[in-house]
Amino acid sequence: MKQQRITENDRTGKGVQATVANSKIYCRNINKIYKSRKNVTVALKAINIEILDNEFICIVGPSGCGKSTLLRILAGLEDATSGEIILDDKILNGPGADRGMVFQAYTLFPWKSVEKNIRFGLDLKKTQKEEADAIVDRYLNLVGLTEFRKSLPKQLSGGMKQRVAIARALANNPKVLLMDEPFGALDPDTKANMQLLLRELWEKEKHTVIFITHDIEEAVFLAQRVYVMSARPGQIMADVPVYLPHKRTLDLKDTQEFINLRKSIHNMLHSKDFKEA
Ligand SMILES: Nc1ncnc2c1ncn2[C@@H]1O[C@H](COP(=O)(O)OP(=O)(O)O)[C@@H](O)[C@H]1O
Ligand SMILES: [Mg+2]
Repeated sequence: MKQQRITENDRTGKGVQATVANSKIYCRNINKIYKSRKNVTVALKAINIEILDNEFICIVGPSGCGKSTLLRILAGLEDATSGEIILDDKILNGPGADRGMVFQAYTLFPWKSVEKNIRFGLDLKKTQKEEADAIVDRYLNLVGLTEFRKSLPKQLSGGMKQRVAIARALANNPKVLLMDEPFGALDPDTKANMQLLLRELWEKEKHTVIFITHDIEEAVFLAQRVYVMSARPGQIMADVPVYLPHKRTLDLKDTQEFINLRKSIHNMLHSKDFKEA
């Protein structure tokens, strides 16, 4: 099955086509093969994706299709077997503070308070105290944790820990926020509230976000555009624009428009073409 291409972008509504020239981040023909003495696993095959500045995209695909592998390559934590990642017209080589990461597993420093976790990257960059204080205060407020600033991670719920992780990533002002199933371990209500919070944050600050999930509902709720991946070897099989209202509230999930989009992605993921690709 050929990848479906879109030419319009709902951010501008002006039919802007994502090209290398106006991409914020661009994956050019990424392949990843894991080789061991016994096995050769083709994890990713010919991945070409383009994300515009300030765009919120989700990548959805079945478990084991290579989503985390792709995100680690984007983060520079792992090398592709072939292909390139281009950020702001420069080919990336290794990790960098230009990309913020939030993972599913809780990754806070357990011995540091909430505010010191958020401050960590700013201290590394030797940001001046007053500026760092202001940034930390701002993100504590944006994620609703001002009164927990002195708490340790073990005193927080899972949702609160992920709010700190998001604040920590954003405090560094990354060019791209990379998120790998960050709400995957949360209970359904907390997960829904975190989706709402993340979308509100994006509406306020317009980061460029690449969010990976196997949850179709989550992808449709959050994204302006959803890339759909096939089962292994992971390939991008469709590029689906999400023409839903800009301001999203949880009751959107019950609308016919939302349900139709969710079903159409579900059908793509379960189609014969996809499985055999
Ligand atoms: N370090 C590794 N060595 C060998 N195989 C790996 C490694 N990491 C991932 N894989 C394999 O690559 C495929 C994709 O894995 P992954 O990216 O974790 O998928 P997803 O995040 O979509 O569930 C899986 O078959 C997995 O077993
Ligand atoms: Mg994964």
